[in-house]
Amino acid sequence: EMTGYKAWLRYETAENETLREEYRIYCSSIAVAEQSRVLLTAARELAAAVRSITGHSPSIAPSLDRASGVVIGVKGKLDPELEQALSSDIAELSDEGYVLRTLRAGSGGAERIAIVGGAEAGALYGVFHLIRVMQMRKSLGGLRATEQPANRLRMINQWDNMDGSIERGYAGKSIFYRGNAFVDDFSRIRDYARLLASVGINAISINNVNVHREETKLITKQYEETLSRVAAVFRDYGIKLFLSVNFASPIAAGGLPTADPLEPSVKEWWAQRASDLYRAIPDFGGFLVKADSEFRPGPFTYGRDHADGANMLAEALAPHGGLVIWRCFVYNCLQDWRDRSTDRAKAAYEHFMPLDGRFADNVILQIKNGPMDFQVREPVSPLFGGLKRTNQMLELQITQEYTGQQKHLCYLVPQWKEVLDFDTHAAGKGSTVARLASGVLRERPHGGIAAVSNIGDDACWTGHPLAQANLYGYGRLTWNPSLSEDQITAEWIRQSLGCDPEVETVVSDMLRKSWGIYESYTAPLGVGWMVNPNHHYGPNVDGYEYSKWGTYHFADCRGIGVDRTAETGTGYTAQYHSPWRETFNSLELCPDELLLFFHHVPYTHVLHSGNTVIQHIYDTHFEGAEEAAALLEAWKSLEGRIEADYFALVAERLAVQSEHAKEWRDVINTYFYRKSGIADRQGRLIY
Ligand code: GCU
Repeated sequence: EMTGYKAWLRYETAENETLREEYRIYCSSIAVAEQSRVLLTAARELAAAVRSITGHSPSIAPSLDRASGVVIGVKGKLDPELEQALSSDIAELSDEGYVLRTLRAGSGGAERIAIVGGAEAGALYGVFHLIRVMQMRKSLGGLRATEQPANRLRMINQWDNMDGSIERGYAGKSIFYRGNAFVDDFSRIRDYARLLASVGINAISINNVNVHREETKLITKQYEETLSRVAAVFRDYGIKLFLSVNFASPIAAGGLPTADPLEPSVKEWWAQRASDLYRAIPDFGGFLVKADSEFRPGPFTYGRDHADGANMLAEALAPHGGLVIWRCFVYNCLQDWRDRSTDRAKAAYEHFMPLDGRFADNVILQIKNGPMDFQVREPVSPLFGGLKRTNQMLELQITQEYTGQQKHLCYLVPQWKEVLDFDTHAAGKGSTVARLASGVLRERPHGGIAAVSNIGDDACWTGHPLAQANLYGYGRLTWNPSLSEDQITAEWIRQSLGCDPEVETVVSDMLRKSWGIYESYTAPLGVGWMVNPNHHYGPNVDGYEYSKWGTYHFADCRGIGVDRTAETGTGYTAQYHSPWRETFNSLELCPDELLLFFHHVPYTHVLHSGNTVIQHIYDTHFEGAEEAAALLEAWKSLEGRIEADYFALVAERLAVQSEHAKEWRDVINTYFYRKSGIADRQGRLIY
């Protein structure tokens, strides 16, 4: 078995004999109350976990007698006695929700564990919950949990291309494609489905949002049969298949002269594609669309808007229950850097706010967490709080494009927690992004969270083994955005690295600090970018300064930052509700970490921290590089407590990070020293 391949489904044998015995007895047999693929998957997953954790294989039976064991079933289809015993627990269950409860079978019967889903997917999530409890080495006595997912859609976006490459992938090649075809062996896809289902993911789009030539054909007859087999793999794990589509497909794949969304022949073509797809895949999820963005075709070509485009696709999918997920990552990527009136940060709001209320009920707008593009630090996109009558969905990036490309350790759960907890004040206090994305705040029929995957065919899936924590944490947060960072971290560590308390202390500390460390030695105070163009790895302060991408810092000899205020700047701050619009607009109130996102200030400007901007840059960069080195030292203290090859792999990455953090430190510090002419107060070495 390859190092780290099993990730958090490692099922290490319990060392504590009492616990092992308890698990063995509770799980000695597994009864599946009803025959269905998902329930059978659940039973097999549980059996495999129990076998590995206890050393004993449970039997799988159609029903339980009075002996102890686990019953896996679905509400409304249990034996009457159990249905009765659980009636208050299961009354309110949604399809994907579940009850997990230890209870006695009748009077004098043995204790047993019931896992009951609102529907079969719920039961599967309940099983993974039980496995998690055992992997955390907790007792099964007195278990009583009722869970419902906070989000209807809990989605992963693969940016995989059919040639086997992955856009912004840092963990090898695609597990789906090779040489412009699907891989022959789907076993790794199945293992991926297991990982995803175990953390509650229920939807996946399997091709890049930039849909190239071969991928355009995925919605045609040519791929129907293969796609239905891929969908079946995911279906066993409660995951729906989506495809990214090319808006110009009617031309590129259909031979029509136009892709105008109001043209009857175009509508007809899409409707036909949809019904064919649904014949092959009755539970197909729908389409993910990047249109009129970064040179992708879209409705603008025909003088139509995003609502025209999305609604046309929605109409084709609606009869089959499909969804259109339309991305809001739309901006002018041919900007003139001399033009100070255009602000890329304003673009999504400006494009989509005027269309609020015009989208069909089965359209969801997918909005990146920040207004720019997955930088290490950005404010939350104001579009979340803006839209009132439109389904919306949050888009995060698990793959570490701008956060160290899985060479650097950067645990993103703390960042995502900040985003989800951000109170937009759109409908008074408590209007968090979590409640807007899920749709509860505006009572929308659809909503959820999507994120760009960080996996590839790398032995440990994610390049950096510790980057698995990001995939794990992402899934857990889509299920329940109010889970604490500490809980998610502890769960991941115990399941992936075992229950050694020393390992838990050290690794959780490393993970907790890692985002802050990465931020401190890279672009300062929310200004972003400063990376090498195209591949986006490594420092290049002016890499994007005179480019067409709308990504500037405006550093000169006096100061730095982007003035986005209402009075003297681009006016972006006005896209927020109060009190954020005033807070961000005000030099005094703006939080330090976002200062340069919102304001252009002299290097001598004093932060809330009491430090000047220039001294802050020097301090954080010197400290950040030291802290990166300390991460390696911390990890080294665990030698012997972690499997040797896993240990070595992480150590190797941390050494690269440590070296590279110095490069960042020196490039950034030198640049600003030369620009400002202001020396470091501590007289440290700047070149
Ligand atoms: C980023 C990324 C691109 C990607 C784009 C998107 O700009 O660098 O590779 O295509 O986001 O989200 O569409």
